[in-house]
Amino acid sequence: MTQFAEWLSQTSLSLAIQSHEWVIPTVQSVHIIAIAGVLGSVFMIMLRILVRAGRDQTLAQTTARFGPWLSWALCVLMVTGVVMIVGEPARQLLALSFWLKMGLVVIGTAVAVLFQRSLRRHEPHWESVLVNQSRVKGLAVVTFLVWVSVVVLGRLIAYDYVWGSWSTALKQ
Ligand code: HEM
Repeated sequence: MTQFAEWLSQTSLSLAIQSHEWVIPTVQSVHIIAIAGVLGSVFMIMLRILVRAGRDQTLAQTTARFGPWLSWALCVLMVTGVVMIVGEPARQLLALSFWLKMGLVVIGTAVAVLFQRSLRRHEPHWESVLVNQSRVKGLAVVTFLVWVSVVVLGRLIAYDYVWGSWSTALKQ
């Protein structure tokens, strides 16, 4: 991975990003704004499943309202994330926090896709049975905590030394 990061950092695109110091902070700012889109939409859908908000709407209506925000925010996070990886490959690809974060992003995204697909196919069962089950409410809280963990790991990329010898990140 170190060799790949070294190779990537010498590509013309990476050198262009590195030589324009405003790119990374600007992209990171957009990344942070998009986080609000993910956390906000997952939080609102969780509150509807816990019947703590949005009772005037069905679960399907709430998901139809916030689902697109989640999808678009994830697209923006993917694009801005890739720009930051190309611009600072060693900082990201050698960080244990980065890979743990990506693992949780894949899990969180898979849960979101499977949930929306199941809701579309079995809406009456979701609205009358599943939404009232405590295990489903528990899963909604766990899903939200997965995305909160992604945020913490995203921030820890800059402090990857906290993992001690597990981290292969270059010491600053
Ligand atoms: C979808 C794919 C994603 C990629 C490829 C990605 C990649 C990155 C990269 C490369 C950084 C820069 C780390 C640094 O240099 O310090 C970063 C920072 C961060 N990311 Fe992501 N990310 C993604 C999704 C997400 C998601 C879904 C969240 C939260 C819901 C998130 C939260 C954060 C946070 C909180 C930071 C730290 C920002 C800062 O300290 O300024 N990321 N991400």
